[in-house]
Amino acid sequence: MTAAATTPQAHPLGLDASRVPKHVAIIMDGNGRWAEDRGLPRIWGHREGAVRVRDVVERAGDLGVTHLTLYAFSSENWKRPQDEISQLMLLCVAYLDGEAERLTEEGIRLRVIGRREGLPDEVRAAIERVEGITEHATRANLTLALNYGGRDEIVDACRAIAAKATAGEITPEAIDQDTVARHLYTADLPDPDLLIRTAGEHRLSNYLLWQVSYAELFISEAAWPEFDADRFDEAVLDYAGRTRRFGKTDAQLEGTRPQ
Ligand code: FPP
Repeated sequence: MTAAATTPQAHPLGLDASRVPKHVAIIMDGNGRWAEDRGLPRIWGHREGAVRVRDVVERAGDLGVTHLTLYAFSSENWKRPQDEISQLMLLCVAYLDGEAERLTEEGIRLRVIGRREGLPDEVRAAIERVEGITEHATRANLTLALNYGGRDEIVDACRAIAAKATAGEITPEAIDQDTVARHLYTADLPDPDLLIRTAGEHRLSNYLLWQVSYAELFISEAAWPEFDADRFDEAVLDYAGRTRRFGKTDAQLEGTRPQ
């Protein structure tokens, strides 16, 4: 074995592994504005956005981000024109079918969170195909939020817990934060460390409401179709320079600040 083969690879951004966010969640905003600013139909913004999804998934893997969770279609997005909804659904199927092989090769497990029963049959079928193919992948995790709403997710968790209480499987006193977390769609995932929103808006838009309680926020002025690997690096570097408090005092945090 050569010396090179045994030397651990330097981080592409020169970061210590402890400074890299393990879970990055993204609100991909600004596709429509990006297209309209160029005199193009809105769907062109979504198409270009799907290309950025591929770029950012790849860069996240290179940087050691093990979980990426992307807001692809909210429970509110059904209010959009039917034509735009249909095109977005087609784009999701095309993405899932087109990326299945690459995700498998890269060891990326795909999950979809949201109310699946509300999605068109062909979207559900594509999700099931790719979730099945990538089920045993362990290098990284890509989660798409589709027909997702944070409040719906909490309602669904409450219903599941209430059903267990009615069946006598749990007592009300035994319900704690861990119980709730284990009944969310994200039961298998760690909480996000970093939440990125593009296109300059400062809103959560019903995204991962429970899970982002302690996440660091990064707002990019770039529209999602402009959010390339360099912009992703910028967000990760910004996160790496922060001190997470989790309610602690300055004295308690001494020694944990970035060098
Ligand atoms: C918000 O932009 C974006 C969406 C509602 C959809 C996000 C979808 C993609 C990035 C492409 C498809 C996804 C995958 C996973 C292949 P907006 O249309 O609300 O932008 P605006 O605020 O400028 O109108």
